Amino acid sequence: MFFASDNWAGAHHAINERLMKESTRFAAAYGTSALDQAIEQRFNEIFEREVSVFFVATGTAANSLSLASLAKPGGVTFCHTEAHVIEDECGAPDFFSGMRMSPVDGRNGKMDPKILSSRIARYPQDAVHHGRATAVTMTQATEFGTVYSLAEIEEISRVAKANGLPLHMDGARFANALVQIGTTPAEMTWKRGVDVLSFGGTKNGCWCAEAIVFFNPEMAKELPFIRKRSAQLFSKSRFIAAQFEAYLQDDLWLDLARHANAMADRLRAGLAASNSARLAWETSANEVFAVIPKDTAKAAEAKGAKFYDWLEPHDMAEPVGDDAVLIRLVTSFATEAEDVDAFLDVIAAG
Ligand SMILES: Cc1ncc(COP(=O)(O)O)c(C=O)c1O
Repeated sequence: MFFASDNWAGAHHAINERLMKESTRFAAAYGTSALDQAIEQRFNEIFEREVSVFFVATGTAANSLSLASLAKPGGVTFCHTEAHVIEDECGAPDFFSGMRMSPVDGRNGKMDPKILSSRIARYPQDAVHHGRATAVTMTQATEFGTVYSLAEIEEISRVAKANGLPLHMDGARFANALVQIGTTPAEMTWKRGVDVLSFGGTKNGCWCAEAIVFFNPEMAKELPFIRKRSAQLFSKSRFIAAQFEAYLQDDLWLDLARHANAMADRLRAGLAASNSARLAWETSANEVFAVIPKDTAKAAEAKGAKFYDWLEPHDMAEPVGDDAVLIRLVTSFATEAEDVDAFLDVIAAG
């Protein structure tokens, strides 16, 4: 009953096997091997255009270095109030980019385009004392388990572009959002105006594989230096490439995300039907938020269920209440239907 996070799961066997194979041979270091280059080419196919790809170790690095590549002195980056970049990365995006984050409210983890517009207006380009608006970053799927529709991405992008700002997407759970919408990587990114993407693999079956993807290679010119100076240029970068090779082969990444989302659907359905729990809000990717009695949470933990208590978000429609707790449940490629059913039984037993 592991629902703490999708990064508690191991790695998919196809990825492990590919790593084993890679470990038996010699190849050029620092991203110059034929395999690194072949996988960069594979990203071109996936995104249906020439992209610039940079492998890094963590989602935090992908976000931080993406934003560093967009930075200006005195720059301000706009993100959702409860985004991972502002709440959960210990200030790394600010540290590496030298910019600061400005929070933008919006329901269910999605920035409200009108609020975004008015926040940006507070930082005109010539306002030397306030700092200047420099970039917008959005998360897809969001930290709330919701997914921006294509029209919603376009709306955020329209506001960013109207103000001359580049748009970054934190895609730590990119695949989960993609299969939920049922669209293509190109449609969900550059065709809607996304300029830079943190493409996550770790949460969806890789061992440790994240990539920064630039849709305009011109914007990527500084990244090789930014990455090296940030200690993220791996000498054995080909082991990240190898993971991505297996991950992207025969749509494995999409199958794994579909499975994780299906397990979340099962969990959602069970909790919605339960007398002892309620869904905190509607989610559609592989994260589920539920309100359960404190005693039930303790009993579930005592029986081995793993999940995180969650802070009540700023816009929670129905407050949690003193006797209850808000919890986050995350499913992954490795979640089994039996785990979900066992957890639902534990919740029903109270
Ligand atoms: C939305 C989102 N972005 C980025 C990250 C950062 O990933 P990492 O923990 O690999 O730095 C996470 C991890 O939980 C996340 O949920």
